[in-house]
Amino acid sequence: MFFRRQNNELEVLAPAKLNLFLEITGKRSDGFHELDMLMVPIALYDTLTFKLRRDDEITLSSCCAVGNKITLPAPVDNLVIRAVKLLQQRIATGSSSTTPGLDICLFKRIPAAAGLGGGSSDAAAALVAANYLWQAGLSTAELSELALQIGSDVPFFLSGSAARCTGRGELLTPLNIPAALDVVLIKPRIGLATADVFAEYATQQGIRVDERVAADNILDACASGRAPEIGKWLHNRLVDSALRLQPELQQLQAELLALGLPGVQMTGSGSTFYLICRHARQARNIAEKLSHRGHAAVFHTRTLSHRFLNIDPAQDAVSIEQPCVGLSP
Ligand code: C5P
Repeated sequence: MFFRRQNNELEVLAPAKLNLFLEITGKRSDGFHELDMLMVPIALYDTLTFKLRRDDEITLSSCCAVGNKITLPAPVDNLVIRAVKLLQQRIATGSSSTTPGLDICLFKRIPAAAGLGGGSSDAAAALVAANYLWQAGLSTAELSELALQIGSDVPFFLSGSAARCTGRGELLTPLNIPAALDVVLIKPRIGLATADVFAEYATQQGIRVDERVAADNILDACASGRAPEIGKWLHNRLVDSALRLQPELQQLQAELLALGLPGVQMTGSGSTFYLICRHARQARNIAEKLSHRGHAAVFHTRTLSHRFLNIDPAQDAVSIEQPCVGLSP
């Protein structure tokens, strides 16, 4: 994430993510699945601003980017509000004074129900911003514990880099992908809820241990930083479940595969597909072409390379990756 302090406001850019790899390695006793994932942040951001209030109210106002028809969930379900309230409760334990409230404004560019982690990234940004503004002094490990209570992907967004994520998704090993990849995102009009896609996966027999895909090849490819290598080893165990839930997505997948690009895959539990392109020009041309096909949104963007992000609000953004180009119909 990136921070900008202006007068008494803190502005945070919260990035989306892509899953370059997602394998299910088991079912846990808490009902969640054991995962092995490679996640990488991308230069598509929601913007959140935080301002301290005199009273202890927490307010959230929001707006959406043009063409991004996002309906935000009611405040009680909104992950930003849940994250901030969780931190507020945590601070209140063992302290007699109350924390001041916050006015939060959320500008959404990241589509929802898309597998791009937008809500999780917003929640992570809210935890870091509130921790800073309230001078609560929680460590990243402590924030991570709270983050996991909000959602399995939220701790990843506290890490500030690409990572291999295991467990529910919260056990992180940072990953250095030396070069940024030019990608095109295609968000179909159909959205998918993560819980539904995992539930669909669970109705099937599951996979045998010998059918599991190992992360070794994509890890080697990531170390090379070469798009054709990385594209060859993309994997997502949830794609078949997503396609069973929404069979119309099969045609989109077939069309994208026919483009003959280095890589095509669905991110997370969908419904967004992404294309790994050879270079920016190719990504720009393809995004332009696909933007006329009636999808909810098409973006040309890039993966964020190592150390572009920080999770320290005391440091202003030094250099922000060129924000992505959104091409909506
Ligand atoms: O943790 P999060 O709220 O993002 O998860 C949404 C749903 O996805 C969970 O309720 C669960 O059904 C499924 N899930 C899972 N195993 C994970 C992560 C998510 O089964 N590791």
